[in-house]
Amino acid sequence: MNTSLSPDERAELVLKELTLDEKIALVHGNGMRGWGKTPSPIAYLGNGGAGFVVSVPRLGIPMIQMSDAAYGVRASAENGRYSTALPSNIASASSWDVNAACEYGALIGRELRAQGYNMTLGGGVNITREPRNGRTFEYMGEDPVLAGTLVGNRIKCERQQHVIGDIKHYAVNDQESGRTDVDSVIGKRALRESDLLAFEIGITIGQPDAVMCSYNAVNGDYACENKYLLTNVLKNEWKFKGFVVSDWGGTHSVEKASAAGLDQEQPEDLFYGAKLKAAVEAGRVPMAELDDHARRVLRAEFASGVVDHPDERGVIDPEAGFETSRKLAEQSIVLLKNANNILPLQREKVRSVAVIGTRADFGMISGGGSAQVDPPGKPGKWQDHVWFPTSPLKAIRSRFPGAKVEFDSGEQPASAAALAKRSDVAIVFAHQWISEGMDLPNLSLPDNQDAVIDQVASANPRTIVVLESGTAVTMPWIAKVPGILEAWYAGNKGADAVANVLVGDVNPSAKLPMTFPKSEADLPHPKLVMPPPDAGGSNAVAEAKEAKPKFAVHYDEGLKVGYKWYDAENKEVLFPFGFGLSYTTYKYSDLKVMPGTGATASFTVTNTGKRDGAEIAQVYVAMPQNLQEPPKRLVGFTKVPLRAGESKQVQVKIDPKYLSIFDEAGNAWKLEPGSYTFMVGGSSKDLPLKQQVNLP
Ligand code: BGC
Repeated sequence: MNTSLSPDERAELVLKELTLDEKIALVHGNGMRGWGKTPSPIAYLGNGGAGFVVSVPRLGIPMIQMSDAAYGVRASAENGRYSTALPSNIASASSWDVNAACEYGALIGRELRAQGYNMTLGGGVNITREPRNGRTFEYMGEDPVLAGTLVGNRIKCERQQHVIGDIKHYAVNDQESGRTDVDSVIGKRALRESDLLAFEIGITIGQPDAVMCSYNAVNGDYACENKYLLTNVLKNEWKFKGFVVSDWGGTHSVEKASAAGLDQEQPEDLFYGAKLKAAVEAGRVPMAELDDHARRVLRAEFASGVVDHPDERGVIDPEAGFETSRKLAEQSIVLLKNANNILPLQREKVRSVAVIGTRADFGMISGGGSAQVDPPGKPGKWQDHVWFPTSPLKAIRSRFPGAKVEFDSGEQPASAAALAKRSDVAIVFAHQWISEGMDLPNLSLPDNQDAVIDQVASANPRTIVVLESGTAVTMPWIAKVPGILEAWYAGNKGADAVANVLVGDVNPSAKLPMTFPKSEADLPHPKLVMPPPDAGGSNAVAEAKEAKPKFAVHYDEGLKVGYKWYDAENKEVLFPFGFGLSYTTYKYSDLKVMPGTGATASFTVTNTGKRDGAEIAQVYVAMPQNLQEPPKRLVGFTKVPLRAGESKQVQVKIDPKYLSIFDEAGNAWKLEPGSYTFMVGGSSKDLPLKQQVNLP
């Protein structure tokens, strides 16, 4: 308990006192409500979360109480609690704002602690290789530098609340279809420069105490028994000092997993309980290996502060949560189209508004699975479609007190179109629900919504579409619709945030963290690779025998993820990565790139319009040609608040790693000598400034 010692020293002192049974107890969970066949006899010690690890009271080591917390703390309803639902993680990535990411993490950290948890299972950062992935809303988009930077800042601030931080799902868990049976096959260089880079950056910035290994296999070995991922890269190269926790039921062995670097099995002890103990006693697992697992868990408890800041429950502050959620949503809503400046709507001029869309009178939809945050009321079931009571109709009515604001669900397109026709403006709220445990068959809006939008827009050319989606959507009606907002899953104050953008109380500043393609035919894998009929599905995760993946997805597009793919293949997209409009306009000038350790890009951004705003300025680099990289990569970004007419000179420091390639033969990052072209602007497709520099 000597706080002047380092977490490593303290962990070592505790470890020396532990019996074999106590060590084993630190490296497995004790069940989760609704999971598995036989509940653990000590299940009652849990806090209602996804898992827990026992304490060592005689040495002052507390229990670890874990909860899912992707966009807020999970399972409030069944536990009789309440949590704030923030905008989804993909929405948060659209802010491109490290401070917003920090606020996001801090709020979740506070609410975890108030509810008796001291470990988060948030921190999803799988990059979007497959936009139909049902968990896209839980992640931070398709670019490793953006995703890694934001998840790192989220984790950093979540941890400051004294919760054990987590990053997941390590790695290449990029589709949900057959997630426990699939082998993700990918080249080493592509792996390191894309999927793993997001983790590397996130871990460097956020210093999470835990890394959750994923359900799938990577290049032949399951992620939770993959020596290359867990030991060679994570623990040896990146010097990660925390523990590796299996995804729920993602453990498949004792000796292999332990030797590969899996430190803790969750949520049960099928492998890391009696079997691990027997293996240690028989010498099949060296004691030093078990010590390493246990030491890492202990170290996490000291490093995160959960030992020195014991359980302190409280009532969370719902009003503050609403406020933060609304503010973060306002920073996450992307203005995709604004023909003839249809937006912002002019309150004084609009006399009638048609609000159209499924449940748009009641609320806004959220993403499902273990990320699900509960709205007020009774607990729902797994994969229920959950709508938060943040009513677009009410929010719009309150912004247009003098106007007639009417609602139509859109169930009958003709009736919606008739309402649109007799209104000054029509606002359609369209939704696309996604969840863990499924992928989308395609990126179309479900339930005939394309037809509704089409007919409404035909009836009234002043139509605005507000998308509530967890990933990209296709828009066959785009030419007819002058105004489009991407609101994502906007959290429990989404309607107010959207209304504030619609009327211009908030000037939108967010930009897409992922490409919106024109059609699925343009994706690297036009058809999703589906599991074979004999795949074990969710049962496979709990199988207590040596597991082998049953099918493979070959990520042979390699480095070409997201915009890098569309750029390299010369495919036109619907909306490019980094794109987002504002109610003002910006100009870029005076680029100067200064080589150093990495480089610094200095340039000026000017607000050339009539409204205050904030511009997300992006720096990309075209690598020397002989390196065979995609045409460009994001290497830095900054959000610049600018009053109308104001100019600011900004500097973006570029990490040398972001200018490097991963050299497979030398197993190292290398900044190769050559000509690098720096490009700066407001989206991946609008880069007015260019400068060529020889590096290093
Ligand atoms: C999910 C994890 C989650 C865990 C615990 C798994 O099914 O993949 O993201 O943290 O369950 O709920």
